[in-house]
Amino acid sequence: MSEMTDSELADRRESLLESAREAAGGAYAPYSKFHVGAALLMADGTVVTGANVENASYGLSLCAETVAVAKILSAKGEARQLLAVAVTGGAPGAPGQGMTVTPCGRCRQMLNEVAQLGGTDPVVWSDGAQGILEERLSTLIPHAFGPANLA
Ligand code: THU
Repeated sequence: MSEMTDSELADRRESLLESAREAAGGAYAPYSKFHVGAALLMADGTVVTGANVENASYGLSLCAETVAVAKILSAKGEARQLLAVAVTGGAPGAPGQGMTVTPCGRCRQMLNEVAQLGGTDPVVWSDGAQGILEERLSTLIPHAFGPANLA
């Protein structure tokens, strides 16, 4: 499974969002009390999840997407073709019930690293009470600087 058609991708949307919501349950966010979950679908069908991990030194906190990217890039021999990203967040136990949560600027850059390595432009599904916002990563971070610039 190296590529997926738009319709095959769309078929994975709900389950990827569900994985993100489940991942949000693992958030360590005692300071913001805002629990975020991210789920990343790779071309081989693998789903890699992450949740935000905060720190008493607030600025050191890690976003859910960044945690998921770190898992992918630190896994030996893993496929790195990123096809889709689902992000959700909100009050503990109630992800996706407030404003749409799109990846923050730093997370867009982190996601771009994996996307460029695998030569993909993943679809990003952002969860929220108003519905699911769908954008390609290249729309969220146009003209991104990445590994290709350093080759
Ligand atoms: N957060 C994420 O995990 N991902 C985002 O894209 C936006 C923000 C986290 C960081 C912090 O732990 C909490 O949400 C509130 O900002």
